[in-house]
Parts: sequence; C-alpha cells; structure tokens
Amino acid sequence: MENISFKAFVTKELEANKFERSIETRQINDLSVGDVLIEVFFSALNYKDALSARGHKGISKNYPHTPGIDASGIVAESNSPDFKIGQEVLVTGYDLGMNTDGGFAEYIRVPASWVVPLPENMSLREAMIWGTSGFTAAISINELQRHDVSPDKGSILVTGATGGVSTLAIGMLKKAGYTVVASTGKSDQKEMLIKLGADEVIDRADVDDHSERPLLRGRWAGVLDSIGGSTLSSVIRSTQLHGAVCCFGNVAGDALATSVYPFLLRGITLIGIDSAEKEMDYRLNIWKRISEEWKFDNINDYVKEVDLEGLNNEIDIMLEGGQVGKVIVNLKK
Ligand SMILES: NC(=O)c1ccc[n+]([C@@H]2O[C@H](COP(=O)([O-])OP(=O)(O)OC[C@H]3O[C@@H](n4cnc5c(N)ncnc54)[C@H](OP(=O)(O)O)[C@@H]3O)[C@@H](O)[C@H]2O)c1
Repeated sequence: MENISFKAFVTKELEANKFERSIETRQINDLSVGDVLIEVFFSALNYKDALSARGHKGISKNYPHTPGIDASGIVAESNSPDFKIGQEVLVTGYDLGMNTDGGFAEYIRVPASWVVPLPENMSLREAMIWGTSGFTAAISINELQRHDVSPDKGSILVTGATGGVSTLAIGMLKKAGYTVVASTGKSDQKEMLIKLGADEVIDRADVDDHSERPLLRGRWAGVLDSIGGSTLSSVIRSTQLHGAVCCFGNVAGDALATSVYPFLLRGITLIGIDSAEKEMDYRLNIWKRISEEWKFDNINDYVKEVDLEGLNNEIDIMLEGGQVGKVIVNLKK
C-alpha cells in the first residue's frame, strides 16, 4: 500500500516528565510492524489509555506515542491467510496502545494473532462500546459462573459503578439474571444506575471498612472490583461463604491488605482478571457470549461519542475519576 498520511492522537515528551497531547499527521510506513493493516473506524477510551496519554511510563515506555488499547475497523492490507482485505475486525488488548501504536488513529498495524473477526450481530461501533471494558466485564461474569456463583447464591457487588467497565458489567449481570448492588461515589447517578439494571445503589463509603477485623458480615455472593486498595480488602472480608471476588482494577491503589481468614473460614476465591493477554479461544468465546447473551438494549444511553479532537477533554475527566459510562472515539467523524 502507498505511504499515505493519516491523523493520529499523539502524546509527546517535551522535557523530562513534561508531556503534551496533540493531533498530528503520521505516515503508514512509520506504524509498528505487523501482518494486518486496519483502517480504524472506532476506538474507545479506557483508564489505561488515559494513563498512557498522560505519560505513564509503566504503561508506555517511549514517547511520542499514540494510545488506544481498542480498535475496530476494516482490513486494509493483510499478509495473513486468516484475514482478507475489506473484512470487519476488532482488536483489544495485547500490546495495542501500550508500546504499539494504538487505536487513537485512522490506521493501526498489528500481528494477525491479535485480530478478532467482528462477531455476528455486532457493528463496528458496538464492538467499541463493549471494547476492553465490556470484554473485561464479560470475563468476570464468565469466571463467576465457572466458580459456581449463580444468580440464586445472592447479590453481586459492582464497585466504581459509574466507570466504563462497571457500567457495562451492571447491565450484563442483570441480563444474566443476577441481583446487582452498585457502589458509587457519585450520589447524583443513583437513578442512572437503577435504570441501567442495579437493584440497589450504595455509597462507596458503605463498602470501605478501615477496621482490622479479619471478617465482616457476609454480604456478597460475588464482587466485581475496579478499585483495589482498601475497597478490595473490604470486599474480600465481606464476601459470603464460597463466594468469589473478581479483581480487575486499581483506580484507588494497588496495595492489598488481607488475612488468610476469608479464604480459610469462608472458602472464598479471589480471581485475577487479565483482559489483555487472554488466549484466542477464550477470547472468541467471550465475544460470542457478549454478542449472543449479554449485550443489552439501552446501552446507547450510557455512551458518549467523540472525535479525535474531543478526546483530550475526556482523558482529563477520566483521570479525575469523573467519567460516567463509556466514551467511544469515532475516527470517521
Ligand atoms: N484487568 C483488566 O484487564 C482491566 C481491563 C479494563 C480496565 N481495567 C482497570 O479497571 C479499572 C476501571 O477502569 P475503567 O475504564 O472502568 O475506569 P473509569 O471509567 O475511570 O472508572 C473508574 C471508576 O472508579 C471510581 N473511582 C474513581 N476514582 C476513585 C477513587 N479514588 N476511589 C474510589 N473509586 C474511584 C469511579 O466510579 P464511582 O464514582 O461510581 O465510584 C470511576 O468512574 C482501572 O483500574 C483499569 O485500569 C482492568
């Protein structure tokens, strides 16, 4: 393919630890190496992207850099027999947007082993509404089910309820038949969370316990936790007999203080959720379950769509913990 120019969101390091974000013109030939060139139609904003865009070197080592761990689009060039020009595909995770040029651009180039054919019953736009967030929420529900946490066992707590992953998780858990308790720091979003599918909304302070008691009242059959730190420690201690806690996020800290008692006396399971490196068979099954079982109808009420220029502001809101629902990026706007 000729070396055409395209638009990309770029974070540059001006001097040590001073970063600037702008929209720049890039060349196809400068993209990361890979078997499949994809014309990106949609991307999505995730917490990891916000950190990468801010210059977090634990996520993206080298700048200038284009973040964006999610992308959906059409194959523009392929050196793989598995993908044909014109085919609709999506990519989430692996190294996309970390140290590989990411989805906040009109083109990406990636290894064929990262590419997922667009699931049936799903548009390119919908694929990015779910994106890494929906995929992470879906892995968590899949894991709860694998650990026998069925809807009859009790309530599922979702922390950081208004966040990208948690919003999708609430709707999907409801669709899967669970009773859902949403914990949030945004009291003005209670009505939105109930409409989304939460059976009860509680304040995040009601979940956090700063005592050193090894066990608290068993309240949850299962937990989906995006917060980490003292919240994760608290929910482990308040999960009921044989329940399970899915740990997928660390917005409020990466330390974990716990004792062995929730594991020894209640037999609870702590499940680590990694969406980035999930093997392809598992990945394809999760996308199938999203598209056939768990996607819910009023999802568009929780989506904010921006173009590349509109991203900067959304990144700042996310870094301040102020996002509600899901932000997607339309590269064709
Ligand atoms: N393991 C994986 O594969 C995977 C995949 C995707 C995301 N993640 C991680 O999951 C987490 C959430 O991602 P996201 O994209 O959903 O982010 P997000 O949209 O920014 O949501 C995070 C939510 O957490 C709550 N929150 C923010 N700051 C907080 C604080 N200081 N203390 C307590 N609660 C706080 C807020 O919800 P409320 O105001 O409603 O409480 C916020 O909306 C991140 O840590 C991200 O890196 C992991």
